[in-house]
Amino acid sequence: LDNGLVRTPPMGWMSWTKYYCETDCVKYPDACINENLYAAQADRLAEDGYLDVGYEYVHIDDCWMSYNRTFDGQLAANSSRFSHGIPWLANYVHKRGLKFAIYEDYGTKTCGGYPGSLGFLKVDADTFASWGVDYLKLDGCNVNLDQMKYGYPEMERHLNATGRPIVYACSWPAYLIDQQDKVNYTEIGNSCNLWRNFDDISMSWRSIVSIIDWYVKFQDKLAAGQKPGAWNDPDMIIAGNNEISDDQARAQMTIWSIWSAPLIMSNDLRSITPSQKKILQNRDVIAIDQDPLGKFGKMIASTADIQLFVKQVTPLDQLTGEPSYAIAALNRATYPVNVTIEPWRLGLQNPSGYSLKDLWTGQFKGDITSVDARIHFDIVPPTGVAFYKATIL
Ligand code: GLA
Repeated sequence: LDNGLVRTPPMGWMSWTKYYCETDCVKYPDACINENLYAAQADRLAEDGYLDVGYEYVHIDDCWMSYNRTFDGQLAANSSRFSHGIPWLANYVHKRGLKFAIYEDYGTKTCGGYPGSLGFLKVDADTFASWGVDYLKLDGCNVNLDQMKYGYPEMERHLNATGRPIVYACSWPAYLIDQQDKVNYTEIGNSCNLWRNFDDISMSWRSIVSIIDWYVKFQDKLAAGQKPGAWNDPDMIIAGNNEISDDQARAQMTIWSIWSAPLIMSNDLRSITPSQKKILQNRDVIAIDQDPLGKFGKMIASTADIQLFVKQVTPLDQLTGEPSYAIAALNRATYPVNVTIEPWRLGLQNPSGYSLKDLWTGQFKGDITSVDARIHFDIVPPTGVAFYKATIL
């Protein structure tokens, strides 16, 4: 969507995969959907270095609402869990230099059973704008699939008409998962800044791998539909949770960066381990994700254990326009694997070569200058990655 927003993929924190729809704040005072949760995570984003490296959106997900609209048809927050109200929370987030994101659903009800926007699209767009919302995730439960191609663009027009810049994230194609021939990313990208294509992520390595498999299967179509301001969204970053090892966390961050995916974490920033925090804040890796070309990198070679991914990135050669590359080796096996490959197999053809950097260790690996040189990824750990940048010389 050409509204000038998210020219690089959005980064932030979202409640869903970590906290789901927990509304029992008596039993779970620190892990229920209430204003304290979002305020606390906003504090951590602002104070613990996340905002400095680019994580800026605080995303409320489902289950924030009252079951009833107000007498004049407006949405209202649950008044005991959000006792200060949504505008107060948006302001709290803004005062910390962050941006405020909210969840709704295009259907009659949200996936969690709260009031949906069907019949209230304009009212809700105006309400969100008046509350200071900077980003809307519009889900697609409880609505006729054939209606989506009218309803999602209609909401974009209402958001645009508010005059407030609001990033628009659509779940539209995720609900057409069994009808891929009906999914037209050019059409979706004309109305949405980003879109979910596939199933929800859950808290496991298996879930990460299932998303990678689906994305690889459809990579040509996904790549063709993506550009700055119009992003595929493979769902949240679950790095930072105990269910995921450090190697698996590096693997998710790597592949999501190869795709220029949104980096929206779902974890507890109050209790994260130092090593996972470091992984989430790796500036070299984030720079690949946020590269201005906005390319959707692809898997270009594989064995039973290893998949090699390549993405074109800046800097470009000043004379020829040849790109630099981000190169990832993903090891899906449960044992370490030694990987080497000739650069030309990855598309690296610049006659004067490339300088290689290991993005996870920060070490320079020397220059590759000859066509028959090999790139050595050393030992790629089990369910882990090696991630290099080859900068054009
Ligand atoms: C859907 C979405 C999730 C989450 C839930 C909330 O499943 O895909 O990301 O927002 O709804 O109910």
